[in-house]
Amino acid sequence: MFTAAVVTVSDRCFRGERPDGAGPAAAEMLEKAGYRVVETVLVPDEEERIRAALVRLADERDAALIVTSGGTGFSPRDVTPEATLAVCRRLTPGIPEAMRAASLAITPRAMLSRAAAGIRGRSLIVNLPGSPKAVRENLAAVLPALEHGLEMLRGGEADCAAGT
Ligand code: MTE
Repeated sequence: MFTAAVVTVSDRCFRGERPDGAGPAAAEMLEKAGYRVVETVLVPDEEERIRAALVRLADERDAALIVTSGGTGFSPRDVTPEATLAVCRRLTPGIPEAMRAASLAITPRAMLSRAAAGIRGRSLIVNLPGSPKAVRENLAAVLPALEHGLEMLRGGEADCAAGT
């Protein structure tokens, strides 16, 4: 069992103008896949706030997998990929490539996702789009392969905190 954290990036959810459907959708899928979700966070579309959340979840929380939702489109405040790339030393382009390939079979708008993914220390960070439907579709496309990546990244270590 690996640990996971979910970061919802949305100005409107952060201001309380809209309930967060995407974060819970991601958390539910991760738990069903066997992850232990240790934290869910809500931040506005501000690069510094996103970066700080990712750094804390990776460096202090040591979450094996960190997924973000939202802020991957073209609007001027969509900066989640930039925040992600800024905190990752090693990139994992195959993951967003796979998400876009699978999503293009569902909607041509999938090409508008600028989602990125990469590794910070012992944590894998993956961007997802912002709608609950898109979260489910994108996560479903990559979840089956992520465990093998995390085993390589963390040396086959299971969730130490859970004593497994
Ligand atoms: N991928 C899937 N599978 N399903 C979707 O509905 N929506 C797309 C794309 N990827 C979508 C998808 C749209 S419309 C946009 S603008 C981008 O994700 C970015 O979404 P975001 O701005 O909510 O992050």
